[in-house]
Amino acid sequence: MARYEATVSAPVNIACIKYWGKRNTALILPTNSSLSVTLSQDHLRSTTTSSTSQEYEQGDRLWLNGREEEISKGGRTEVCLAALRQWRREVEDKDSAAPKMSEWPLRIASYNNFPTAAGLASSASGLAALVYSISQLYQLPQTPSQLSLIARQGSGSACRSLFGGFVAWEMGERDDGADSLAVQVADRDHWPEIHALICVVSDAKKGTSSTSGMQKTVATSTLLQHRIKHVVPPRMTEISRAITAKDFTTFARLTMADSNSFHAVCLDTSPPIFYLNDVSRAIISVIEELNRAALASGAGLVAAYTFDAGPNAVIYALEKDMPMIVQTINEFFPQSLDFPDPFGVLAQPSARPEGFN
Ligand code: DP6
Repeated sequence: MARYEATVSAPVNIACIKYWGKRNTALILPTNSSLSVTLSQDHLRSTTTSSTSQEYEQGDRLWLNGREEEISKGGRTEVCLAALRQWRREVEDKDSAAPKMSEWPLRIASYNNFPTAAGLASSASGLAALVYSISQLYQLPQTPSQLSLIARQGSGSACRSLFGGFVAWEMGERDDGADSLAVQVADRDHWPEIHALICVVSDAKKGTSSTSGMQKTVATSTLLQHRIKHVVPPRMTEISRAITAKDFTTFARLTMADSNSFHAVCLDTSPPIFYLNDVSRAIISVIEELNRAALASGAGLVAAYTFDAGPNAVIYALEKDMPMIVQTINEFFPQSLDFPDPFGVLAQPSARPEGFN
């Protein structure tokens, strides 16, 4: 009996304009639009193999980094699988020769080559890879933007990882979420000089998850209302323009301002949420000082820091300035020799967890 399989990988994306808050938690509709850069190197990726066969025992099964995870009823993964099956059914309805895969059980194995849930956006790459691998398995005709409607329901930020380069998640206006999707603002080749340095301050699992943290902010922060109405909308326009014009100074200014605005609304949440630690704040000071010196010498900004829901820093800089940034960071934060290399474990797309087949 036939068995079908597809393996894909999806990279992490790091937001410059942050998504923080849902207006609809079931459909994952955000309270503001957001914009990110998809990292293009081999670090920070999820690689997912999905397979289906009529022979499989009933019930879908999922493994993350080799450990089986339950696919809970009505949970996010199940919602994504149901939506993908529905689109596969449309393919089968149109073509009577197409195998009836929509009725068969799925086996899905996903590996991250970086620490999971350490504020390094593992849910983004993970859910994007899951949705994309099944879309390949099912040979769906949908575009990446259409697939982003499903990935969004797995994890909001995942919708942006379906594209490379610079990606906006437009919040949309509709109650059914049909216009809340990802679009590419510019591809990687438009501005290849932009590079990202990931500073792993801690690879421990984070204390407050994004999902619960952002809803506490929605429920209690008055500052969030100001942010979503008056701060983010003009920033989305300005940063898109900066990307189109390859204006690093504006891009960097907005990225740092938005990271600080996001962490300010976390602090304005009751009880307050602290994602940054002393090392994170020291990194902010070092970058601010580098930028101050660059401006004083008549140059533009040289680097932009941004922090997600954890203490790890992502520093954007132009390729020409990156050696100086790396050297400065190394001087201030010398790497401990026995610090485990978080990127040491590479994904093994061909590894099969027990029970996969
Ligand atoms: C701080 O996408 O992880 O990284 O939709 O609840 O799964 P859920 O949240 P998630 O939140 C990401 C928040 C962020 C900012 C961003 O990536 O835009």
